[in-house]
Amino acid sequence: MLHDGILSEKVAILTSGGDAAGMNPAVKSAADYARKNGMEPYLVEWGLRGLIEGWIKPATTERLTGIIHRGGTALGSSRSKRFFEYQFREQAYNHLKELGISKLIIIGGDGSFRALNQFYVDFEVPFAGIPATIDNDISGTDYCLGVDTALNMIRSSVDCIRDTASSFSRAFVIETMGRDCGYLAMTSALATDADVCIVPEINYDLELIGERLREQREGGKKYILGIVAEGTGMGEPLTRWMGDALGMDSRLTVLGHVQRGGSPTVYDRIMAFKFAVAAVENLKAGETNKVVTFKDGSFGSSSIHDITDTKHECDPELIELVRGLSC
Ligand code: F6P
Repeated sequence: MLHDGILSEKVAILTSGGDAAGMNPAVKSAADYARKNGMEPYLVEWGLRGLIEGWIKPATTERLTGIIHRGGTALGSSRSKRFFEYQFREQAYNHLKELGISKLIIIGGDGSFRALNQFYVDFEVPFAGIPATIDNDISGTDYCLGVDTALNMIRSSVDCIRDTASSFSRAFVIETMGRDCGYLAMTSALATDADVCIVPEINYDLELIGERLREQREGGKKYILGIVAEGTGMGEPLTRWMGDALGMDSRLTVLGHVQRGGSPTVYDRIMAFKFAVAAVENLKAGETNKVVTFKDGSFGSSSIHDITDTKHECDPELIELVRGLSC
């Protein structure tokens, strides 16, 4: 297609890894903003798998209409092991070459960014990354798309569990997702006024927790809510411990994939828009392999190496606020 008399650049957009609310508004915004800036947007279906298979189509108005309010990813996603093999990356490159696509925007986690960086090393196709994962565990950015929606989902589930916990005077342990990162558990423990929080970032002390809770029970506390990050593996042990150490009827609720669903919150939609604009700007400026970041309230970008070579650390202030719930 011609733009100002010049053959416009083609950019393909894909979502990859665990789906997160906010991916759809990011796809729509990236395609719209790319077009506004003289690029021709394409959409890759089913993530890295779609790149290998050549499931790549123009980003038509029809395909972009009515997706921003939907949870998950309308494009589909995958965790493709084949992409780690050169022959399949070459196959993916050939599909892009056939269509004349020279740049990529990938919305996903650091594993997906790493995969595209290898693709760049092999075939020099630059990409811009948009961090999206409910785990909020990508180095260099304070925020990843999907986190606010997931937290609201957790908040609403814990509020419901509180209703039944208080009705039966029970102890409940609620396990959140997040892999090895306790961000979802810590933030939701604060937001729901939980009594206990066990996360990989904080050493816990069951003896002290027991003393504290028994004292609170004597003071009139009727029910207990504990939030546990999946990465600690403490869901079942803590539930058993609550029964044994506190003599309470105890139950475990593993929230699971419900945390990944739901219509993106306003915050996730607006952040998606801003991340997408920044990603297109990066590509326009000729940046290669940069991930858009949101740090201390401002948007910026980091090189793929800074993102993938640095271990993610959770906000120390958040950890301090939660510490009292782990002892
Ligand atoms: O990375 C997002 C996440 O939801 C993690 O919190 C969780 O451990 C994992 O993905 C679950 O993966 P899957 O959807 O493949 O079961």
